[in-house]
Amino acid sequence: MIGGGYVGLVSGTCFAEFGTDVAIVETNPDRLTALREGRIPIYEPGLDRLVEENVEAGRLTFGDDIAAAVKGADAVFVAVGTPSRRGDGQADTSYVYAAVEQIARVADGYTVIVTKSTVPVGTGREIAQIIRKTRPDLDFDVASNPEFLREGNAIQDFMRPDRVIIGTDQYKPEGTERAQNILRKLYRPLYLLETPIVFTGLETAELIKYSANSFLAMKITFINEISDLCEKVGANVNDVARSIGLDGRIGKKFLHPSPGFGGSCFPKDTRALTAIGRNAGSPVRLIETTVAVNEQRMKDMGERVITFAGGDVSGLTIGVLGLTFKPETDDMREAASIPVLDMLDKGGAKIRAFDPAGMTTARPVLPQSVTYCTDALDAAKGADILVVLTEWNEFRSLAPEKLAAEMKGRKIADLRNIWDPKAIKDAGFEYISLGRPD
Ligand code: NAD
Ligand code: UGA
Repeated sequence: MIGGGYVGLVSGTCFAEFGTDVAIVETNPDRLTALREGRIPIYEPGLDRLVEENVEAGRLTFGDDIAAAVKGADAVFVAVGTPSRRGDGQADTSYVYAAVEQIARVADGYTVIVTKSTVPVGTGREIAQIIRKTRPDLDFDVASNPEFLREGNAIQDFMRPDRVIIGTDQYKPEGTERAQNILRKLYRPLYLLETPIVFTGLETAELIKYSANSFLAMKITFINEISDLCEKVGANVNDVARSIGLDGRIGKKFLHPSPGFGGSCFPKDTRALTAIGRNAGSPVRLIETTVAVNEQRMKDMGERVITFAGGDVSGLTIGVLGLTFKPETDDMREAASIPVLDMLDKGGAKIRAFDPAGMTTARPVLPQSVTYCTDALDAAKGADILVVLTEWNEFRSLAPEKLAAEMKGRKIADLRNIWDPKAIKDAGFEYISLGRPD
């Protein structure tokens, strides 16, 4: 497994749990040292125990020696980052191609090179060319096995997936069968659970991943716009979402209004799909709109807090609960808190923030003036306004009276709808949330 980040570490560990010998190669020295010392460099519930058990069982190892890991491997997975390229929004595949060149140089015997990273359509075929150029003698196939796990629920998602996609070269039937057989073996425990395993061509597998993420991002953006509409017409978005979701064709998941979707995947993958569409001469206009609406929404949320404060936050103390792009992760990539706090900081507010897991990852990406607090009540201390940006469970159970006792002002902007408006208002607060009438 090349790359020991959120995806490589979780999938590598889960493959080991399935009974396979896994060597994870990680080049980031801090991450590697942590892993070798038995520490998990990312926040992912349950991962520490699973890593420990599989290391002890001798099925899971960590290192930076790609040759040692790849030698004798039946399959080599590439799980390195594919961030957005500055300017055109296309996925930056340079880490993938660099890893593939390294693999090609040291592979021996028949090897399947599998992309687990989310990669643009055509990458699999490009990888095959790179390998052929680097090692004309190597017996290999290329496969695409996109990953659908969510951070915070990653182990469950990997162990009990809705489906597994295995894409192989549809123009090379002999290779396809050999590669499929190896991947089928790796996923054998899932066959027993009757998990649908879908075999496709390379381009199809690559496009499935972008289509799935973009569809979910579009669904969130839809409910966010309906939420805004609810506020204008006096309707309740929770009831709208629940009721439309009861129609099995729509489904109830991913209909929670928010300050905008963030994270390391939806923003970059929606941008990448629009680039893929444009380059192919088949623009995906719904997703182009989704990208634009979501970017605007994060800024609108900053404006909303400023308007709620009376139009000027300068000199005000603002308590912020939650910084990460969603709960149960320490990941700050493209979190809504970044543009929102930036606007509040530029407006002259003093920001007191708390996040249960993201305090370390937040520091480099948030304004320097932010004060990091020890807990939620500490963040509320002396605050004129309290803003909820991530719906961590521990915030849901905070008693409004306790918040009132810490705060100077009586204003709460709940941008994740974690509280019951009546309970908060009964405690004497002025309260705004998303898409719910006063
Ligand atoms: P990440 O940045 O957390 O991890 C990537 C790791 O690869 C880093 O630790 C980096 O040091 C390492 N790396 C880079 N080049 C290397 C090399 N040549 N050799 C060894 N290690 C190398 O990224 P991530 O969140 O795990 O995402 C990886 C890919 O998986 C992306 O394409 C992403 O879109 C996709 N994905 C992510 C998630 C998620 O929830 N994070 C879910 C599904 C798919
Ligand atoms: C997402 C997908 O859910 C995974 O299936 C996929 O594998 C992954 O991207 C990926 O490709 O990396 P993840 O980014 O971990 O997983 O988190 P999600 O739970 O999907 O949330 C993404 C963003 O959407 C968060 O900011 C979250 O707050 C927001 N969201 C989610 C909403 O605003 N409303 C919702 O109803 C659901």
